[in-house]
Amino acid sequence: MLTDARVMFAHVQITGFVILFPYICSLKNNRKHTMEIYKVSLKKNCDTRIKFGHLWAFSNELAELPKLPAGTIVELCDFAGKSYGHGFYNPSSLISVRLLKTFDVPDKALFVKRIGEARHLREAVLGNMTSERSQSIDMCRLVFSESDLLPGLIIDKYGDYFAVQILSAGIEAMKAIVVEALLEVFPNTKGIIEKNDTKLREIEGLPMTSDILFGEIPDTIISQENGVKLELSLKDGQKTGYFLDQRNNRYFIRSIAKDLSVLDCYTNQGGFALNAGLGGARKLAAIDCSEVALNAVRANAKLNNLEIETIKADVADYLTKAGERGEKWDMIILDPPAFAKNRKSVPKAKAAYGKINRLAMKMLNENGYLIASSCSHHVFEDVFRETIYREACKAGKQLKQIFRGTQAPDHPILLSLPETQYLKFFVFQVV
Ligand SMILES: C[S@@+](CC[C@H](N)C(=O)[O-])C[C@H]1O[C@@H](n2cnc3c(N)ncnc32)[C@H](O)[C@@H]1O
Repeated sequence: MLTDARVMFAHVQITGFVILFPYICSLKNNRKHTMEIYKVSLKKNCDTRIKFGHLWAFSNELAELPKLPAGTIVELCDFAGKSYGHGFYNPSSLISVRLLKTFDVPDKALFVKRIGEARHLREAVLGNMTSERSQSIDMCRLVFSESDLLPGLIIDKYGDYFAVQILSAGIEAMKAIVVEALLEVFPNTKGIIEKNDTKLREIEGLPMTSDILFGEIPDTIISQENGVKLELSLKDGQKTGYFLDQRNNRYFIRSIAKDLSVLDCYTNQGGFALNAGLGGARKLAAIDCSEVALNAVRANAKLNNLEIETIKADVADYLTKAGERGEKWDMIILDPPAFAKNRKSVPKAKAAYGKINRLAMKMLNENGYLIASSCSHHVFEDVFRETIYREACKAGKQLKQIFRGTQAPDHPILLSLPETQYLKFFVFQVV
């Protein structure tokens, strides 16, 4: 409801993209303006998920879809008018409201608090690892969207540099505040880059951009994970620079790689191959279809005094041909991009996961290791494992599961929002 107020339209110009959102300000309070904002109501009996902590209201759950600009801050209420707090509204997305879990109107102080809490969590869970592992939050996912109660905001930290990805119109409208808050929590920041070049933004009606938001970003920076040195490009790398979610799983691979020959498929910048190398692997090869990624593998191999053969190929093609010529490995790692982007594509994704895992298990030496990973949220863990198990049955192989992992602790999973869990990771001994 628009009550008791005067309307202030704030025009936020973001890289040629204008978001207009209504601020309704009342001056009841001298210290700060409190904003009264539009109430959006859920239909009757549509609040069960939200009552138990889910943070999204879908368009078919709302009593009406008001004509407000994407990114408007609204208050979400149940049918009887009970408030669930403020959230970001987007009338053109299936997720109409993304709750922020606050009854205050979001402002810089909220962002400082939430980013500060996210920092504290990372320091607590990453900072106390043993001396070999990453000893600080030097390189980590600092903010993981809804899991840190900042819907649609991802911030990755690489030393004093930050890569930001914005996946909601609400955060996009508050981008300048996000930058200010980040600088307040990390006053030594040297540069902030937005890596908003993902297609996921289309769902929220946002354009693809990649800009420097603060300071300077060098062409490459040297960072480290689990003691592995990495030369990273925040400007050119995929995602926000590095696939940080596999941190702990890479370390497990390192712990079992001694004396093995290791083929790292979908290597990107060599994360698994480098860890296997530092773990004492006797032979390393890494496959990717991207030459930019393979250049990074070569640079990283040099930095860590390792030899890694780089192969530019489509993994499925490579495994098919290599299998036919009898190539064998002690460990094959499969960490492909998400094969299922939505629920509809799950059957196709299962077939694709099945194919590469079948090809790989046939190329393993006796008692070799198959490393099967999937970052498709929609392919659930039991479905993923069942898919691989079926391929093993067809191939007459036994799979012995020796490790099961998921995303690293700097990508926390909200149990009330299953969508925050996406990474599956299995180590099977194939016997
Ligand atoms: C999820 S990332 C892998 C992350 C990596 N394993 C790590 O630890 O950082 C997927 C990688 O697969 C590559 N890729 C995508 N499709 C491919 C294909 N058909 N064949 C080979 N590489 C592919 C991408 O270029 C990207 O580097």
